[in-house]
Amino acid sequence: MSELPGADSEKRTVVTAALPYANYKPHLGHVAGVYLPADIYVRYLRLLGKDVIFVCGSDDHGVPITISAQKEGATPPEITAKYRRVQRRVFDGLGIEFDHYSGTSICPEHVALSQEFFTKIHERGDIDARDTEQFFCTTCDRFLPDRYVEGTCPKCSAAGARGDQCDTCGNSFEQTELIDPHCATCSSIPEVRETRHWFFRLDRYQEQLETWLDGREGWRENVKNFALGIVRGGLPARSITRDLAWGVPVPLEEAEGKSLYVWFDAPVGYISFTKEWSKAIGDPDRWKRYWQSPESRIVHFLGKDNIIFHAVIWPAMLMAHGDYQLPTDIPANEYLNFAGEKFSKSKGVGVWADDILARYPADRVRYYLAANAPEGRDTNFSWEDFIARNNDDLSDVVGNLGHRVFTFVDRYFKGKVPAGGAEGSTMEALLPQIASHRDRWRKALGRYRFREALGVAVDLARVGNRAFDAAEPWKSRKEDVEKCGRDLAALLELVRAVSGLLTPFLPDTAGKIWATFGSGSATPTPAEIAGLGRDTLADGQPLTPPGIVFPRLELAEEK
Ligand code: MF3
Ligand code: ZN
Repeated sequence: MSELPGADSEKRTVVTAALPYANYKPHLGHVAGVYLPADIYVRYLRLLGKDVIFVCGSDDHGVPITISAQKEGATPPEITAKYRRVQRRVFDGLGIEFDHYSGTSICPEHVALSQEFFTKIHERGDIDARDTEQFFCTTCDRFLPDRYVEGTCPKCSAAGARGDQCDTCGNSFEQTELIDPHCATCSSIPEVRETRHWFFRLDRYQEQLETWLDGREGWRENVKNFALGIVRGGLPARSITRDLAWGVPVPLEEAEGKSLYVWFDAPVGYISFTKEWSKAIGDPDRWKRYWQSPESRIVHFLGKDNIIFHAVIWPAMLMAHGDYQLPTDIPANEYLNFAGEKFSKSKGVGVWADDILARYPADRVRYYLAANAPEGRDTNFSWEDFIARNNDDLSDVVGNLGHRVFTFVDRYFKGKVPAGGAEGSTMEALLPQIASHRDRWRKALGRYRFREALGVAVDLARVGNRAFDAAEPWKSRKEDVEKCGRDLAALLELVRAVSGLLTPFLPDTAGKIWATFGSGSATPTPAEIAGLGRDTLADGQPLTPPGIVFPRLELAEEK
């Protein structure tokens, strides 16, 4: 196969998507910003024949989980098992296909590997013990880490600030600065007690991080600038332990009863899950080729609220550990909002996958979320727009083209590829257009510009519709049937190409169209993708079109 431009730089890739806390069901905002782009990217690499694995799982530890468990009257293992199931169902329903979906509390490799990170960094002297002051609730008889304490924000005076951060103004502070602190569980006023915690000396990695970030080429500007801003603003040592029983135990005798902070163990999950996967496929060392080889690319998908962890703290952990490669790229997204508001379960704002999938096929949801991807700026979900984009683009442009071409060939050419081929026909110029669209699609996807790549595929269908009009086959079939047939052969090549380019976005429906052309598979091979734009269809080959693939959608009743 002749390689496409730039394709050789993508030899081997591990793609991760931010591990969702095991206390929520992902909504379409999460899907649009994290899981769908990751899935599209993985499918695209596979289409090019690249070696790629896609790893994810639930983020099971920490205060978010223990608080939710308490609220639902369940144990942390129960609640994490429940939400892991819920998450898998959401992702399955949307055709988001991980090679491995685990959880930080069930993956057998995870505790040891997280502790290894702590121990290695501790041994090289980059973790310090410090005596700190924390709130302690005498009624509940425990320390109140993170969200276990609530109060009024010392920066903006908003009520309901949690632990050491305020969701109203976004500031963070020492929890003992909270005004009117009270225990989130029993409301009593906590006292301040001394407790020892361990701090990761991020300050020692400031220079190395700055040099590294500065040298990242092709990164999204928002991600790079945000991370550089944080690093240049000065990195304080960060507490990486908690007085909490649920979590990875801190591997020090003097730290009994303490756990690693959830943000310390969670990203390690990317590696421990890959190890677990390697064992499961019977090739226990395979994870190394993804995490320890400089030939490998490591791509983390996540939302913008996670940039600091993935672009600053996690790379510092990797630098300090030393045995693993640093992230290659972090294509973080902005947010998809719902009718101008942030998705919020508590406020009932937003759309969840099971609701929309009960009414519309997964590919329609994938189409709208990808066409409206929050790349570089927030975007908005609205039901009217969901219907309009699907109808205007998929039904009226892509579906219409397929329908016109297939119906015509069926009626006047016995449903077979007309003889003579596209080359030398009056529509011959379509072939280089197909190739150039494929190249633009390829470049856009390689740069994580999913919206643009999808637009290129739909635009190719627009080119096809115009060409069909210009060819006037309804006339030429009477006046010059050979010209008519060869024009249609060119249009068939184009329809086939459109479906090939839509494959990573709409795996189900694009596969149905692709299968029309009888290559025996619903997915193009790398050679077939490279061959788009050549005259490939054999004269007389029978076609098996799928019928109406994109019927027009109606706005469902409620909402
Ligand atoms: N659990 C976090 C969230 O839902 C994301 C963790 S990403 C990882 O926002 F890197 F820590 F895994
Ligand atoms: Zn209490």
